[in-house]
Amino acid sequence: MSKIRAAVTGIHGWVPQDILTNSDFEKMVDTTNEWILTRTGIEERHILRGENMGTSVIGTEAVKGLLEKTGTKPEEIDLLICATVTPDMQFPATANIISHNCGIKNAFSFDLNAACSGTLYALVTASKFIESGTYKKVIVVGADKMSSIVDYTDRATSIIFGDGGGALLLEPSSDGFGIIDSILQSDGAGMPYLHQKAGGSSKPASLETIEAREHYIYQEGQPVFKFAVTNMADVAVAIMEKNNLTSDDVAWLVPHQANLRIIDATARRMGVGTEKVMINIQKYGNTTNGTLPLCLWDWENQLRKGDNIILAAFGGGFTWGSVYLKWAYDPK
Ligand code: UT7
Repeated sequence: MSKIRAAVTGIHGWVPQDILTNSDFEKMVDTTNEWILTRTGIEERHILRGENMGTSVIGTEAVKGLLEKTGTKPEEIDLLICATVTPDMQFPATANIISHNCGIKNAFSFDLNAACSGTLYALVTASKFIESGTYKKVIVVGADKMSSIVDYTDRATSIIFGDGGGALLLEPSSDGFGIIDSILQSDGAGMPYLHQKAGGSSKPASLETIEAREHYIYQEGQPVFKFAVTNMADVAVAIMEKNNLTSDDVAWLVPHQANLRIIDATARRMGVGTEKVMINIQKYGNTTNGTLPLCLWDWENQLRKGDNIILAAFGGGFTWGSVYLKWAYDPK
């Protein structure tokens, strides 16, 4: 019998209804639709509004939809991992809250934080529990309410982020489908360029931290951009070479959606034409852990059993990585 791999057997996404357009930003900060579009490729993003509405709202909607469309009972789920940088609260884990909301009882569930690469890290972590035969049904949720940590007076950073996410069901396959290979990396020297200064144990919340606006995302766009372009492209090419894949063998590139220019550079380095690249940054912006599941959800009806898919991401940490996935099902 061939090796047991973790196959994606379902995907469901969810974004809130409210939309923040580039022309809305023109009224909030000194910017233009043209600047945002040419520098990032973004036209609009979805924003989750309302009191006590955290990332678990996004995750819960995505998981409920996933269970329904795959005909899975909540009690069948063995493990749920939620990749997020915007948990509802420091503890308990948002994964626990989502599980509870969806009727997933007694399953092993936890949050994973690897900034924008979190969903990739979570997929690989989940796959190990399946490959080892420990679990049969695992859900990976990638979701973020970035609007909760965006400083809407910071024109260089605020314009790229949006809210949303999705959930993937992973199950064992011994037919050669599923996660074939992965490369995950990190370099903590990247911390100064992209982080949230206060609210953690090194600098707990205080009047001073609030007045200094230290609970928002701090990003130095240009250095992050340079690292992202190099590392995301390197790691996407590396996984192709490691698995003897030519650009013709690759059916789809699923890149983290942080900036259209980073996506284009990655695709160019891989030699993959734009028709094979999933791009939805124009309508969602950068949803951090939501980007990869939202792409797969949007493209689900175009994916075919056996498609070779390369997922690639880069984010704060720095963290980055790629996954080689063989798609397991035709459109239903
Ligand atoms: O997902 C996790 C990882 N994050 C990323 O991958 C993000 C990577 N970085 C980026 O995508 C880009 O750096 C940004 C989109 C964030 C910024 O674009 P940029 O081309 O790097 O702009 P910049 O920060 O270098 O600023 C260039 C100029 C500056 O003006 P001067 O100093 O040249 O006069 C900025 O003040 O553009 C100005 N600027 C803006 N102008 C109009 C910055 N933001 C804006 C804006 N509208 N929103």
